[in-house]
Amino acid sequence: MSQPAKRRLRLAAGVPGVNHWTVWGAPGAGSQIDFSTFEHVARTAERGFFDYFFLAEGLRVREHKGRLHELDVAGRPDNFSVLAAVAAVTEHIGLVGTASATFNEPYDLARRIASLDHLSGGRAGWNIVTSSDAFTGANFRRGGYLDYPDRYRRAAEFVELSRALWDSWDADGPQHYRFDGEFFDTEGWFPVAPGPQGHPVLVQAGDSGDGRDFAVTTADVVFSRHGEPEAGRAFRSDIRARALAAGRDPDGILVIPAVSIVLGDTPAEAEARARETQFTQVTPQTAIHLLEQIWGVDLSAHDPEGPVPTPPDSLGDQLTHGQARRVDDPLAAAHAWHAEAVERDWSIRELVVAKTTRHEFIGTPSQIAERLDDAAQTGAADGYVLSGSVVPHGIDEFVDKVVPLLQERGVLRTSYEHPTLRENLGLGDRPWVREGALARAELAS
Ligand SMILES: Cc1cc2nc3c(=O)[nH]c(=O)nc-3n(C[C@H](O)[C@H](O)[C@H](O)COP(=O)(O)O)c2cc1C
Repeated sequence: MSQPAKRRLRLAAGVPGVNHWTVWGAPGAGSQIDFSTFEHVARTAERGFFDYFFLAEGLRVREHKGRLHELDVAGRPDNFSVLAAVAAVTEHIGLVGTASATFNEPYDLARRIASLDHLSGGRAGWNIVTSSDAFTGANFRRGGYLDYPDRYRRAAEFVELSRALWDSWDADGPQHYRFDGEFFDTEGWFPVAPGPQGHPVLVQAGDSGDGRDFAVTTADVVFSRHGEPEAGRAFRSDIRARALAAGRDPDGILVIPAVSIVLGDTPAEAEARARETQFTQVTPQTAIHLLEQIWGVDLSAHDPEGPVPTPPDSLGDQLTHGQARRVDDPLAAAHAWHAEAVERDWSIRELVVAKTTRHEFIGTPSQIAERLDDAAQTGAADGYVLSGSVVPHGIDEFVDKVVPLLQERGVLRTSYEHPTLRENLGLGDRPWVREGALARAELAS
């Protein structure tokens, strides 16, 4: 009897933006501005038959204690400009850029994404984010910023209008469109002809119930932080259940979380490298900054290698602006973290390492290939976004050592099968579009 076909593992490679995981000070670390950084990661990922190259994006440089945040990666060029340049030096790999549905306009963004689809021969994707805070909005403010509950409603209408624009051409050229919505009321002719994919691949990143419901009614791919296999299985099951409830085939939506992988020639070496990387990521100064983000008070007088201070009784002013929120209740977290640090006799830096750094996969190349294969077969994820902690060469070792093993296992392609990202991801050649999603667009016949 023949074996059932193995589930394929999709891979994406990211150049990280704002974070404290990238060790920019490491020997061999490149620049976050030079095109050579993006080119190296994209071409290496293409050598490893990855599905797409991925860029996250923040729309405001973060601040900490009223100054430019020292952990920020300021100066990175605009995503879609970088992706257009990467299109020229690659042939097959998909190009996915993050763009906010809160702070862009559909006509302009749909035009830029369709342009990338043309320039790349059908490899464009859009990671739809709603962006998390009012601080970002201050860069765009035109008399108020959108309340949290309205973000996904605007995002849904944004995508609906973008789809109408991408569909507004026929054999005779652009057709006049009119869209009357709650957030957008526009009409005219869309200037860019449909790209090879028609609708670029839509990725979504947002974790709340509203975010997940938006994903299953809108996106082709869900990007998440649930990279650890057990959490990944729970998240993917939830997405699949929501897809079913929304009347959608769950196999038509892919869940592709971000993960960090550390390799070593032996398991012990990999563990030692992981530990060393965590402490290079969390420098003494970073430890203080990250603890201040939770404690909400200035801790600069404390020794990062010394004991963890008692948290304040109440929250002070917000010291850090612009980070993606990962802790819902900072004061409660501060008390829980403090109690754990006291129990385990952790210094500030040890506590911050334990709480804020994470490597989901640590091991030898063959262990990692086996675990990634297992994760794909057991529904922990449909694939992963990888970013090396050292940019741009962090990904090289994975491509050289793990990719051949994944190919031997039959979970990774040995050549690109199709010209477009949509087809290479196994999403077919047509987008899934929610029934009635274009109801508000009128095309002149
Ligand atoms: C995995 C992940 C990645 C994200 N990446 C970005 C990003 O690159 N840029 C951005 O502005 N927001 C990003 N966000 C923020 C989301 O767009 C959203 O604003 C935030 O998660 C709040 O929505 P939620 O409550 O549904 O999670 C990301 C969120 C998640 C979960």
